Amino acid sequence: MKVTEPVCGIHILEVPFEEIYTAVFAVRVSGGYVLIDCATTARDVDDHILPALRRLGFEEAPIALLLTHRHGDHAGGAARLAEHFPHMEICSFEPLKDTPFRLLCENEIIGDRLQVIPLPGHTERSVGYLDLETHTLLTGDCLQQAGVGKYTNGIRFPSLYRQSIAHIRQLDLHGIIASHDYVPLGSTAFGEKAIDQYLNTCLAHCPKE
Ligand SMILES: [Fe+2]
Repeated sequence: MKVTEPVCGIHILEVPFEEIYTAVFAVRVSGGYVLIDCATTARDVDDHILPALRRLGFEEAPIALLLTHRHGDHAGGAARLAEHFPHMEICSFEPLKDTPFRLLCENEIIGDRLQVIPLPGHTERSVGYLDLETHTLLTGDCLQQAGVGKYTNGIRFPSLYRQSIAHIRQLDLHGIIASHDYVPLGSTAFGEKAIDQYLNTCLAHCPKE
């Protein structure tokens, strides 16, 4: 599994999912670190996430698990992670069905670093996390471009999706990192021009209502 640190303090774990990957982010914050999303299965947690955290030197438990949304490939590992880290807070902007969690607020800041940015469209309550230190927006599945793998139809609420893109344009951003290797531009965009192109590509593939 590939693990990278494209910007300071944000580690990306590319956990295999079907023929693609779903990112898990480990982000250093005040007082420790948080995880954003937790892959699909208990086995992903045991075989991929925990060994990667050890390799990265994260010996202690994460302060919190933050979810971008509740789809299985992002939230499926939550129960297993909670078994390993019983004091870890599970936080979500989208209500979860079977897992105890704390409901996040719009614009809430976690660990003095990560701000909750509601970006509906993929689901009704998907969020991104804006890293206030590096001006990087972790978009989860909120920006879809033309989709990824067999998932070419990931925009459930097109008008909300367009509003979310307009919202992103108002943020002071240096970079975007998505949770999948979306087609055609991939998972990242750094710099004003690349971000603009990335957002334009997302808009171009947004279905009509
Ligand atoms: Fe999703």
